[in-house]
Amino acid sequence: MNLAGKKIILGVTGSIASYKAVFLLRLLQKEGAEVRVVMTPDAERFVGSLTFASLSGFPVFSGLWSHEWSAHVEMGLWGDLMLVAPTTANTLAKFANGLCDNALTAVYLAAKCPVMLAPAMDRDMITHLATRRNLETLIQYGNIVLPTDSGYLASKLEGEGRMLEPENIVTYIHDFFTPKLLKGKKIMVTAGPTQEALDPVRYLSNHSSGKMGIVIAEEATRMGAEVTLLLGPTTLPVPKNVNLIRVISAADMLRYATVHADFQDIMIYAAAVADYTPEQISEIKIKKKSEDFTLNLIKTVDVLKTISETKKQGQILVGFALETDNEIENAKKKLVSKSLDFVVLNSLRDKGAGFAVDTNKITILDNKGNIEEYRLKPKQEVARDILTKVVSLLD
Ligand code: CTP
Repeated sequence: MNLAGKKIILGVTGSIASYKAVFLLRLLQKEGAEVRVVMTPDAERFVGSLTFASLSGFPVFSGLWSHEWSAHVEMGLWGDLMLVAPTTANTLAKFANGLCDNALTAVYLAAKCPVMLAPAMDRDMITHLATRRNLETLIQYGNIVLPTDSGYLASKLEGEGRMLEPENIVTYIHDFFTPKLLKGKKIMVTAGPTQEALDPVRYLSNHSSGKMGIVIAEEATRMGAEVTLLLGPTTLPVPKNVNLIRVISAADMLRYATVHADFQDIMIYAAAVADYTPEQISEIKIKKKSEDFTLNLIKTVDVLKTISETKKQGQILVGFALETDNEIENAKKKLVSKSLDFVVLNSLRDKGAGFAVDTNKITILDNKGNIEEYRLKPKQEVARDILTKVVSLLD
């Protein structure tokens, strides 16, 4: 529940996208937010106010004259955030010019909280100079203007102007409410598997998807950090706003980690780096011949251990330990041998932990001797727990 206890004023204007505001309301509630709705008269032509009233559990504020005269002021003071989704060209223009002819525009002017706008209009309307100017004015007023999606529009045209999908809007709201506890900090995260080439068509690798490290990078960005993500081969989508460095092998991981380590305040090594690599890479495809085949492997350099040996004063170093047995004992050894501030232990014996799942169950062991066990949680919450531990170590 990322939005637990947050009070959100949901403004709805007259656009075909207003039906999506119903789903948006549901998503916000699922995240724990309390939502009250204000609609323009045109919005009510698309979706009945009864739908929003039933779902939000509060009467919808839709007519300036059908409520207590000061209802707009009360609502404007109540919210932690005012979200107008969809925002039509007409309402944008009214907001930009301070017009106040309906319940929504009145709440907008009365609101003390930040305002987020999710525009929705046709392709040529969003690119019109008048709309662009209104959007710029609203940004100058301090409003948060979300981008629009590109795609198939209700007018049957293709292009910019679609309102963002409700899930994406919720992500922006989540970003907005996340305290920027890592502002000004530089974090490097390693994530994913590595691939050790055998010949031009084969490699050795492991089951890591990179998900845990990717989510840590995402959450760290949300908390205001400047993030460098060293990411092994994975098909998962990569987070926005990170300095992404794609790597293939353990040797690549070492090379880039060495280049970037000096500039970091915090380093989190979540990658499942190969411990061994083929002694030789064949330049041509290895052909099948005899009944058995022996592969000579040599040890890779331990990236985390190498970096820990030149760790600068004040840098925070976090490692992972994925174990199948003697978990605590093995994790403690890694904590000491790699000079970590703390180690995040996952056990493959725990259901819902490990590779390619959306949940994880971790235990954090720190260099002061504390051992903290966490319950099974979605990886996003696990990432937040890890970063909260990091924040607790900052001066
Ligand atoms: N690690 C690394 N470079 C390697 C191997 C591991 O940076 N070549 C890092 C991992 O990212 C992780 C930590 O070291 O943060 C522990 O990795 P893990 O594979 O659990 O342990 P190993 O030290 O490789 O020991 P073992 O495989 O014997 O458990």
